[in-house]
Amino acid sequence: MPDVSPNDTADAVDRGVWSSKLGFVLAASGSAIGLGNIVFFASNAYQFGGGAFYVPYFIALFVLGIPVMITEFSLGTMTGRSFPMALSKVVGAKGEFVGWWSLGSALFITMYYITILGWAFCMMVGALFGLMEGGATAPFAPFLEPSTGPNATAYFFGILSSWWPMIAVIAIWGMTLMALLKGTETIEKTVRVAVPLMWLFMIVLIIRGVTLPGGTDGVMYLFTPDLAGIAQPDVWKGAFSQMFFSLSLGLGTMTAYASYLPKDSDQVNNSFMVSLLNCGFEYIAGIAIFSMLFAFALNPAGSTLSLSFFAIPQGIAAFPFGVKLFGFAFFFLIVMAGVTSAISLVEGMASALIDKLGIDRKKALLMVAVPGLIGSMITALPFIVDPGLAGNGTVGLNFLDILDHWAFGYSLLTVGLIECVLLGWVFGAGNLRAFVNQHSKLKLGAWFDVLLRFIIPAILLTVIVWNLVIDLTGEQLYGAANPLGFVDWFPVVIPILWIVGTLSLATYLTRQPSAPDPTESPIATFEA
Ligand code: PFF
Repeated sequence: MPDVSPNDTADAVDRGVWSSKLGFVLAASGSAIGLGNIVFFASNAYQFGGGAFYVPYFIALFVLGIPVMITEFSLGTMTGRSFPMALSKVVGAKGEFVGWWSLGSALFITMYYITILGWAFCMMVGALFGLMEGGATAPFAPFLEPSTGPNATAYFFGILSSWWPMIAVIAIWGMTLMALLKGTETIEKTVRVAVPLMWLFMIVLIIRGVTLPGGTDGVMYLFTPDLAGIAQPDVWKGAFSQMFFSLSLGLGTMTAYASYLPKDSDQVNNSFMVSLLNCGFEYIAGIAIFSMLFAFALNPAGSTLSLSFFAIPQGIAAFPFGVKLFGFAFFFLIVMAGVTSAISLVEGMASALIDKLGIDRKKALLMVAVPGLIGSMITALPFIVDPGLAGNGTVGLNFLDILDHWAFGYSLLTVGLIECVLLGWVFGAGNLRAFVNQHSKLKLGAWFDVLLRFIIPAILLTVIVWNLVIDLTGEQLYGAANPLGFVDWFPVVIPILWIVGTLSLATYLTRQPSAPDPTESPIATFEA
């Protein structure tokens, strides 16, 4: 087993450190709280039935989420390095390869994550102009005629099939890069403003939602356990996947953020704090969204995006007052939450390039941003392939949907699985636990080893194999049933592009010579 001497320390001088524990908690919770908490959680909870979803989700938090977060955080503080180099330090080159593979997937995920934020940005601006008023149209068969009242669906597809999202995507990339320009220093400045604002806006929306007549019925729907629903295996699969994404696990970000912490940080405490903040936000977002859905008897049919992008603005348009303001607030919230997550995704990749190649931050950011921005633009392409809207409408949304299916559906969980096996078996769960317990008030017991070595890998393997069986035994590849017109090769080419692209990138980067590891620098400590 490669040696990780207890005297190894993070390079406090060159890599940067968080100025306080608060800075780290804000940044890590800002990473966790994102589109996943608002857009995806609500749509999963709706799809599976609110009361059927939150029980498995709660269990997933304790069985899967918090233990894996403890592992990813500890990997960062133990080694003082970002994900691939941290894995390389504890388990050698195979670990580094897995780290790069996950960052390759992170690049693909960042591309479309930022595109969705671009659409939200357009809706945010639109809320102040036409979104909340009648007369919306889109160049699609159902929306050619101007709507008589506010029609968020027509408005959204109008945006989707225009070039405006390209500008929005550039703006979001710009904001993300600015926040990363000086590493922890600028990340901290950004999250100190954005994260409290997010909470404030969410609290305003929740108060508005539950005080609407009929709003509390939605809360009841979300929180009334539904035993028949819980018995469905699909709900559990959905809950486990959503938990990984929501806590930003399996993409290297949490390890990168933790690598800027002092080595003696209490990672049990940090993991509980960040996970509970994240899931707390998720539940209150659920309350806000479900109260509006029920108050206006809205039925969000269709894609994952439909709930937040059409149904909620439709509900807000029916508010008795402050329609534009609440509409703006809702999308502003999504943009803020998403940008603080995008920052962490890009930082995970940039910090790994800095650690590996010894290059400066600006260069590393450029190496991520150029392919990332191109990818975001491709997933924002407005060409219409499906005027009937039977599928996803535009080239960009189809690309995004198929890429998301493969990159999100497999990479996070696969990395989680391999990471648990490498740390639980190769490095040794006992070694990891000894390191964690040295600095934590709440000591991890032997149960942690059992979770890391057996239970979590078994759960993740089951979900991955299950997904694969569904994908490979179906009549058609994912997305092939949609009328795609001139891009009917998407369903085949995109998964190949993702898997070949990420594996080649991982092979190439693992083989590159590594810059020296500056482990002899003093342990970073927080100011008193
Ligand atoms: N946790 C973020 C969300 O819920 O939207 C998404 C995310 C960010 C996933 C960073 C993974 C990651 F590394």
